[in-house]
This record gives sequence, C-alpha cells and structure tokens, in this order.
Amino acid sequence: MTKILPEAPKDCDLCPRLRQFILDQREKEPDWFNGAVPSFGDPDAKLLVIGLAPGMTGANRTGRPFTGDWAGDLLYATLGKFGYTRGTYDRRPDDGLELKGAMITNAVRCVPPQNKPVGAEINQCRPFLKARIDALSDVKVLLCLGKISHDSTVRALGLRLKDHPFGHGSEYDLGGLTLLSSYHCSRYNTNTRRLTEEMFEDVFERAKALIEG
Ligand code: URA
Repeated sequence: MTKILPEAPKDCDLCPRLRQFILDQREKEPDWFNGAVPSFGDPDAKLLVIGLAPGMTGANRTGRPFTGDWAGDLLYATLGKFGYTRGTYDRRPDDGLELKGAMITNAVRCVPPQNKPVGAEINQCRPFLKARIDALSDVKVLLCLGKISHDSTVRALGLRLKDHPFGHGSEYDLGGLTLLSSYHCSRYNTNTRRLTEEMFEDVFERAKALIEG
C-alpha cells in the first residue's frame, strides 16, 4: 500500500474542481503561490491548529497557512500571546516567523471557490490530514477552527460524528490527545462577534492548560 505523506504535492490533482480553480488563478495571478499549501510550524508540535482551507488572497497567495488574510492576523497574534511564536508575524511567508510547539495545517489544502470545499473534496484531502496528525508524535491538542475542520478531524481519527458534535469550546478527551474546537477566526465570524478575541483566547488558554497539564 502506498504511504500517504502529510503534505499534498503543490500540483495535487485529486480534486478536479479545485485543480481547475487553481490553474485559472495561475493565469490571473502568475506570481501567487497557487497550489496545495503545506502545513507550517514545529515538527515537534504539541498543538496542531487545523483550519478550513487556504484563503484566496491569504494562504493561496503567500503559500503559508493563514498568512496574509484577516483570519491570520487574529490567529498569529493569539499564537504569539500564548508563547507559540518566535519572531514577528508580518503577513509574508519570508517574515522570519517561526512556530514553537505548534503547527498550523488545513483540512483542505487547496483554495476552494467561495471558501467552500464540497464534501468529496474534504474527503479526498482527509488522508493528508490524517497523515499530518500521525506524523506529530508529541501532539497533545488538535485545535479545530470551525465545523468543517472539526468534522474532518473526527473522521480522520476514525471517530463517530454523532458522538463528537462540534461546538465552540467543545472538548473530547481521546486519551493522551484532546480534540478541542473553536468557531473559525474568519472575518465574518469576528465582524458579527460570533467569535470575539476573548472567546478565541479562552480556547487557546484551555489548549495551553491541557498541554502543560
Ligand atoms: N487561511 C487558511 O490558511 N485557512 C483557513 O482556514 C482560513 C484562512
């Protein structure tokens, strides 16, 4: 059996719709990254943050998860507050920022139209997510941002969605590993105050407490 690697190749063509979307974008913006965005961070991470999918002008442009868009401003600032960064986040993949003890990945590695991957695409990308989780031998907390990320992670772990419903702050002890979830830190969620900075920080505080035990 072929071993699935934790990162999709940049030119991954498993999802025809996403592949075509990226090829079209390469025509429009040839200088952008326009490919499957690899995870970013510490290979010894105890915290794995799992987003939804690259944003068009964020990760799809820069090639680093959450880098260059609104969601990233809040995510990287919060990681910094809790001591998971070294250096300064400056919305560019060459800003020199490093993550310490944390990694960021996405449930779907290619930018989807309207930020909405379809079920078949989420399923197709799940083996990379599973391989990503499996490759982190020290990981203690999987922090899922939003329901799509949460549900795909539950499935990647071979668990039942019915027994592990998504909620903001939902927490499942999986024995040495905790599945913790938050509303996604998107511009929409923060503008509507479905997710406030304080709510987001509370989830990170919990993640840190679980990690530091
Ligand atoms: N950028 C990402 O890389 N992932 C998201 O989920 C949102 C923005």
